[in-house]
Amino acid sequence: MFDLIIIGGGPGGYMAAERAGHAGLKVLLIEKRALGGVCLNEGCIPSKTLLHSAKLYDYAAHGNEYGVYSGGSRPEIDHKLVIERKNKVVEKLVSGVSALMKAKKVTVVYGEAQIIDSGTVKVGDEVYNGSRLMIATGSVPVIPPIDGLAEGLSKGFVITSREILDLEKVPKHLTVIGGGVVGLEMASYYSAAGSKVTVIEMLHQIAGAMDTEISDLLMKSYEKKGIEFLLDTKVTAITKDSVIYDGGSVKANKVLLSIGRKPFIEGFGLENLDLVIKNGAIETDSIGLTNRPNVYAVGDVNGRYMLAHAAYREAEVAVSHMLGESDTMCYDAVPSVIYTSPEVASVGETEKSAKARGIDTTSVTVPMVYSGRYVAENTATDGICKVIINKEHRNIIGVHLYGSYASEIITSACMMIEMQMRVEEVQKFIFPHPTVSEMIREAVFRL
Ligand code: NAI
Repeated sequence: MFDLIIIGGGPGGYMAAERAGHAGLKVLLIEKRALGGVCLNEGCIPSKTLLHSAKLYDYAAHGNEYGVYSGGSRPEIDHKLVIERKNKVVEKLVSGVSALMKAKKVTVVYGEAQIIDSGTVKVGDEVYNGSRLMIATGSVPVIPPIDGLAEGLSKGFVITSREILDLEKVPKHLTVIGGGVVGLEMASYYSAAGSKVTVIEMLHQIAGAMDTEISDLLMKSYEKKGIEFLLDTKVTAITKDSVIYDGGSVKANKVLLSIGRKPFIEGFGLENLDLVIKNGAIETDSIGLTNRPNVYAVGDVNGRYMLAHAAYREAEVAVSHMLGESDTMCYDAVPSVIYTSPEVASVGETEKSAKARGIDTTSVTVPMVYSGRYVAENTATDGICKVIINKEHRNIIGVHLYGSYASEIITSACMMIEMQMRVEEVQKFIFPHPTVSEMIREAVFRL
């Protein structure tokens, strides 16, 4: 009899297993593919490995602007080696998770779980019993009903975020459907690797709900690198060599479908639990509990924030609850990052989202060229840092960064928002000098 059975070994599942095992609970973790889930095997980590190569390529290509020459020849990306390195990185991290499970005495079973009831799960012929169940089955790509799409997918002409990370050859022309995070990150890598890239996005801006000013800057920087964008454009059909949209078509050697993901809730007996499903996701409360006592759902499957770091924290909160500790999930400060070059990082409200919630705001934007380190390390001058505050209470409610180190700097902004810090408190912080993070200090000084 286990204290906790977890279905799904991605960030939500393995974090819960680690924390619960650490606390002395007897844990069973069931995974059908590989520990680490989509994030580690075919998402966050492999894509960051590719993007790092693209970043190095960028540095090499523009080395002369910094007085660094590589003997006259243009740098090149050896895609095969990049993929080989990516596989090694993934292997190393997956074995790290496996070692962690062993260290925390978590029983790991590989196979497809079938839920019989909230205390019973089968894997093949084996039956496992537990006093608590956690569903952490993640998400799968959305496949819309577009003419010719199913055939394109079956022939490998259309691929998803999984296959794009394992392409053997760089496609001559890559057409990306969906200008969200996956689309942009892959457009960025393949453009550096030599593809002509076209991104088709049905909204008026790329990067979804991102601050509009930053999304515009990002698009301009991609365009400078040769990536082509078709905005306000909806794909209507796929043929054997083209993507058709209202008013035109674009040829391609490969098409990446990246129009979002949906919770994975089918085919493993979830119906036997009678859970409340809302908009295709398992409904949970602020500690990750479903409508059934002792059944938790964390990560993408609850449809709240489809981000690994949200899953990590949801897993911790759920385990705290199991241990009788008081803890709740706060979604006010979940950062989002696009790891292209330059990086984009964002947390909290945009002016638009604050307005929709009836919050009166004041904001300030400072150019990153105010940072000595930014100027020393960049020839670009378009980086910005935007800070948004609640006008009445003067606490920080949103920070949006476009420029180098954005992904690392954003953590300090998350803390400011989560702790509801007021401008006057943040103004008293000492930031290391010279860093790009000082731009937050510069911004709050102006509020
Ligand atoms: P997404 O939701 O970020 O973006 C999908 C985009 O496709 C949207 O902009 C949408 O307007 C557009 N779209 C939808 N239907 C379309 C159509 N028929 N024609 C043209 N455009 C259309 O989804 P994405 O990029 O697939 O990412 C999936 C999930 O993975 C997201 O939840 C994302 O946050 C997560 N992720 C996060 C990363 C990160 O944090 N750096 C990296 C990669 C993925």
